[in-house]
Amino acid sequence: MARQLVVGNWKMHGSVGQVRSVVPELARAELGSNVSICMPYPYLSLAKSLLVDTPVQLGAQDLCEFHIGAYTGEVSAAMLADVGCELVIIGHSERRRYFGETSETAARKVRAALDAGLLPIYCVGETQEQRDAGVARDVIADELKVLSGVPTSLYAVAYEPMWAVGTGVTAAPEQISEMHAFIKQTLSQHTCVLYGGSVKGNNAAHIMAVDGVDGVLVGGAALSATEFLRICRAAH
Ligand code: G3P
Repeated sequence: MARQLVVGNWKMHGSVGQVRSVVPELARAELGSNVSICMPYPYLSLAKSLLVDTPVQLGAQDLCEFHIGAYTGEVSAAMLADVGCELVIIGHSERRRYFGETSETAARKVRAALDAGLLPIYCVGETQEQRDAGVARDVIADELKVLSGVPTSLYAVAYEPMWAVGTGVTAAPEQISEMHAFIKQTLSQHTCVLYGGSVKGNNAAHIMAVDGVDGVLVGGAALSATEFLRICRAAH
């Protein structure tokens, strides 16, 4: 069985100084290719240079659905591949919530990522209100439609319940296993499904022991080398 993935998402955090202090620690830690970090665009090349000769992979947090052209402010999938990215987060709840991203735009971004040979990590997740209303599965099923027709081996899905993102509240093991099973039933039993939402050094092993968890997508805790390495070591 493939090793569980640990993907760090720095979101809009960091600085040259922080990249220079955290990334070399990861580079020295003898991590495997199951570990990756998704950095803000300006720090990708610097992070890549610090990860040279390590199997740790580099990712971005979004991309433009268009391939090339007069799209001021945008970054293409080919550009990400060109600076050494191997993966990209797509459809994160923060992009959906603050920037109007829809599953339709995310679908085009997934295609663009695949065309450039990047692994898309496609994010899905329900709000607390949707969970309370009993429609969590419907929301996830709707978000997953984007992936129909895409071979399972070419992408990963991150289940990130929005009420667990950045809140310090993690979903309960039963909630995680139920939703991961649902995602695998909907797509394929072979789909790689990551959990995201307040994963920390002190709960990572617990979360990664849950049935159906193929890895984790880590926000805040990825900004500290010590915390992130603890999470990496919990992967099996
Ligand atoms: O993409 C990771 C994420 O949204 C979870 O963030 O800070 O709750 O680990 P956090």
